[in-house]
Amino acid sequence: MNNTRRRFLKTGLMGSAAVAAGCTAEVSMDNEAAAEPWRPLRILILGGTGFIGPHMVREALRRGHEVELFNRGRTDSDLFPDLKLLIGDRDNGLEALEGGSWDAVVDNSGYVPRHVEDSARLLAPVVAHYLYISTISVYGDLSKPIDEDSAVGTLQDETTEEVTGETYGPLKALCEKRVISEVGAGRTTVLRPTYICGPGDRTDRYSYWPVRTMSGGEMLWPGTPEDDIQIIDVRDLANFTVDCLEKKTTGVYNTVTPKGSFKMGSLLEDCMAVTAANMVPTWVSADFLKKQESFYLPIWEDPTGENSQLLTVDGSRAAAAGLKNRPTRETARDTIAWWKTLPAERTATIKAGPTPEKEADVLGLWHEQNV
Ligand SMILES: NC(=O)c1ccc[n+]([C@@H]2O[C@H](COP(=O)([O-])OP(=O)(O)OC[C@H]3O[C@@H](n4cnc5c(N)ncnc54)[C@H](OP(=O)(O)O)[C@@H]3O)[C@@H](O)[C@H]2O)c1
Repeated sequence: MNNTRRRFLKTGLMGSAAVAAGCTAEVSMDNEAAAEPWRPLRILILGGTGFIGPHMVREALRRGHEVELFNRGRTDSDLFPDLKLLIGDRDNGLEALEGGSWDAVVDNSGYVPRHVEDSARLLAPVVAHYLYISTISVYGDLSKPIDEDSAVGTLQDETTEEVTGETYGPLKALCEKRVISEVGAGRTTVLRPTYICGPGDRTDRYSYWPVRTMSGGEMLWPGTPEDDIQIIDVRDLANFTVDCLEKKTTGVYNTVTPKGSFKMGSLLEDCMAVTAANMVPTWVSADFLKKQESFYLPIWEDPTGENSQLLTVDGSRAAAAGLKNRPTRETARDTIAWWKTLPAERTATIKAGPTPEKEADVLGLWHEQNV
């Protein structure tokens, strides 16, 4: 008999939420503790019915976990009729969360530090693990190489709650800080995705490329085929999110395709392969595009511009923790397949990228100057 006093937390009986609440029990055992049997996690998702949320919900359910949602009941409220929906508002309306307890919370819908702080403070005693979805937009200087230790952007006025193109990143950085200070770094995961792509994307930023390719004809491609880009397929993000909950992985992770692995030329090949379209690419230099007013192409960045490192973010930490990126062609294929299922009024206008007229104008000018 081994006289060593073995200590373990009685999580099997009490639930990890109770452990997180400080209700831990110390027991001594004479025998080796048996491996804890698998049990489903009870997961709360703040959000869950937008773009990334449904993928996370489905992945968690597929693996046998239990999921509850908290949102206002405005977005796609009948998407998951079988799930418990706690209705409330992150802005001073968290009552529906009171009295509950969960193994983990996934915070998808936090943009305002006060909202995130309120939910983190309320949930810290009753959840074991808080996973906050942040963004690579938190980084302050996108012209220098970026890893998780790079400095984040700051705001002159930290009380602002207005989410704009300029404040979005620094506000998310403050949200991260608030979660960590309320819940503690040892129980917090922060995921910083780059452009999230795939079926269900409401921004059309990635979808622009295969959808535009599908319409054929001469198409403007920016920069060179060697220009780096990065994305994260929403399903890979969802898988990694659930992995982190299951493995209790904590810390901060950039969630991106591996740095240097995806180029504009590969995007073009993906788009051609999944659309079989009669598209003719014309590569237009970054210098020329810089001079065009009101001309914006999603995801691509000028490799010599002030955001030059935005698409070469180091994702090795997440890869080492188990993030797996599917082939980008699969993202293109499934995005197009999903796009074709959408109603005509949704696909009549694509939300990102130039109008066909603007694209034709810029191409015309490019040809004039490059005869
Ligand atoms: N898209 C990208 O490329 C990208 C890149 C990096 C990071 N991100 C991050 O990804 C997250 C966005 O993902 P998503 O929109 O797809 O999330 P989601 O979980 O799929 O959807 C947003 C959810 O939040 C709920 N919600 C919105 N405002 C609320 C409020 N005031 N109170 C309670 N619930 C509220 C919505 O439901 P109701 O309307 O019914 O309340 C909806 O369920 C954000 O954290 C964003 O910063 C996105």
